[in-house]
Amino acid sequence: MKLLVTGAAGFIGSTYVRVVLDARPDDDLAVLDKLTYAGRRENLAEVEGRITFIEGAIEDPRVVREAMEGCDAVVNFAAESHVDRSIADQDVFARTHVIGTSVLLDATRELGVSRYVQVSTDEVYGSIEEGSFTETSPLNPSSPYSATKAAGDLLVSAHVHTYGIEALICRGSNNYGPRQYPEKLIPLCVLNALAGDHLPVYGDGRQVRNWLYAEDFSRAIDTVLQKGEPGQAYNVGGPDEEENIEVVRRILELTGRDDSLIEHVTDRPGHDRRYSLSSDKVRKLGWEPLTRFADGLPRTVDWYRDNEWWWEPIRSGEYREYYERHYGRSLR
Ligand code: NAD
Ligand code: DAU
Repeated sequence: MKLLVTGAAGFIGSTYVRVVLDARPDDDLAVLDKLTYAGRRENLAEVEGRITFIEGAIEDPRVVREAMEGCDAVVNFAAESHVDRSIADQDVFARTHVIGTSVLLDATRELGVSRYVQVSTDEVYGSIEEGSFTETSPLNPSSPYSATKAAGDLLVSAHVHTYGIEALICRGSNNYGPRQYPEKLIPLCVLNALAGDHLPVYGDGRQVRNWLYAEDFSRAIDTVLQKGEPGQAYNVGGPDEEENIEVVRRILELTGRDDSLIEHVTDRPGHDRRYSLSSDKVRKLGWEPLTRFADGLPRTVDWYRDNEWWWEPIRSGEYREYYERHYGRSLR
């Protein structure tokens, strides 16, 4: 199979590339990535000689057509992935998630690519106090990030309906694991704890997220690519639901720090209280999560502890400025 993976220099896309090459070493893989602040060539270092890397944006029709020529399938991870940044400035979120997805879908149709998978998020359903969302739950996004992701999903459905392309959507819950950019809760808290810095907890910290190891999400996406029914969406929830404050406390234990580093800060505007997905449909395709949070979190902490070469340049670059702008204080 010749596969194009967009956004694969990021956290989950690079994990997915490794998962695919482990499972099917003979697959021909091309990567298209704009290399934003979150896209890093070193995330693909282990597979560098086994993929074709193309630098470019999914909203650029010329680059997309060149990259997609001769491909059997496309998996689209390319995105601006941070909710807080979308609240501060949503422009690039609309361009990437709406225009970018539209360009990819047009090229999929015109070039007769057999299968297209859109990587999406549980956030398109909004917040849920009790129970879990299924694939037929209405979309009710809260933030500019999730609203533009939902728009991307609707474009996929429209292209299936109107042009009959074989596209599918895979909606994941909160991912964690090695190589996640430190703006996100878990890597941010791990690095701050290692440095003896404060851990910023939004509001009361009682918000609930459903944690999914990135390798498990990657295997689910590949299952959907191989076995999913065209036109369908599949929810992929992690096996463990946790309050943020408990995640932060666990990180403090794992790094040998105490609760005095916890700092409650101003809440995120429009903060979703709880996400929860039913994964029954993707489980019927044969997928199940293999990593529980109790095992995946210590593994993740160990990875950050052992890979300072990976995060040190990030903490001294763009991220430092972002941190000061967003949290109003300097990184230690
Ligand atoms: P990330 O921010 O780590 O990586 C995004 C990648 O996309 C980067 O390599 C970046 O350079 C690239 N990119 C951004 N805009 C682009 C553009 N216009 N053209 C080409 N490349 C572009 O994100 P991630 O956490 O790995 O998320 C990947 C996908 O999974 C996203 O679609 C996200 O919405 C979805 N998702 C993420 C999570 C999560 O918890 N991180 C959960 C569910 C779904
Ligand atoms: O649910 C899937 C989504 O998970 C993905 O679609 C997004 O791309 C991904 O970024 C993630 O979104 P969240 O907003 O849930 O992740 P984040 O790590 O930013 O925040 C997790 C929780 O922790 C959330 O309730 C906000 C809170 N938080 C976050 C940060 C960065 C804090 O309390 N303090 C912080 O400093």
